[in-house]
Amino acid sequence: MQFRAEDKIVVLGKSECGKSNVCKTIQTLYRHKFIVDSADEYHGPEYTVFRDLNKLAEYLNQIYNQRPERISIVWKWYDHLNQDTIKEQIDIICHMVWNFQAIMFVLEEANDYCNPHYVPHWLGILQRKGRHRKIGTIITAQRPSELYKGLLSEVQKIYFGLLRTKNDVDWCHAYFDNVFNLRSLLVYEFYYFSDSEKKKVKFPLLNSGANYKVKKSKNVKNQT
Ligand SMILES: Nc1ncnc2c1ncn2[C@@H]1O[C@H](COP(=O)(O)OP(=O)(O)OP(=O)(O)O)[C@@H](O)[C@H]1O
Ligand SMILES: [Mg+2]
Repeated sequence: MQFRAEDKIVVLGKSECGKSNVCKTIQTLYRHKFIVDSADEYHGPEYTVFRDLNKLAEYLNQIYNQRPERISIVWKWYDHLNQDTIKEQIDIICHMVWNFQAIMFVLEEANDYCNPHYVPHWLGILQRKGRHRKIGTIITAQRPSELYKGLLSEVQKIYFGLLRTKNDVDWCHAYFDNVFNLRSLLVYEFYYFSDSEKKKVKFPLLNSGANYKVKKSKNVKNQT
């Protein structure tokens, strides 16, 4: 498997099938990343954590010109925020990432931020046009049938994990041509589809040294 800086990657599957593990394993390939940590599961000294938009904007401005060797920004939500505020803030965050450029944007639990009829404007832009700003995306979601369809169109790499709900299985079969028998997967197993490959993979445990390669994109200096 080869990964590029501006890849659009999606990881789908039911709760606890191992999506975040897949997502974190892929992230190890990228030196510059911005993670929306929807379930408070990114902890450790390598992460610079923000919950405040002004502080985040200040930090992004500070590092914009002289980018550190590694950037691992994690956005976490305050518990008291209501749905409308979260909607507004995720849009602002995506806009900041768009302006920052050259970074892998990771959105965990995308079902929290969109539905079949709505996607935050700048999230849609990141997904459709991020490539022009050297921005890649990794999106995880439990319920593909309840996502905004545009988020999944033209993704280069998809990991299908175990799905149980008939709606989701049917939706995947209808939306993606020839998806294998998704119900036959075990937890931590995924079908991997890219433009050039289709195969079944069992994901290694975190930090076990996954054997993947990143292909450097010609114009990207600050990524991967
Ligand atoms: N390949 C694996 N081998 C062994 N354990 C794993 C593997 N992948 C994930 N796990 C474990 O299974 C649990 C669920 O994994 P993970 O958080 O990645 O699932 P998830 O699909 O992201 O769940 P959620 O939908 O709730 O976010 C975790 O405790 C994780 O450590
Ligand atoms: Mg998860």
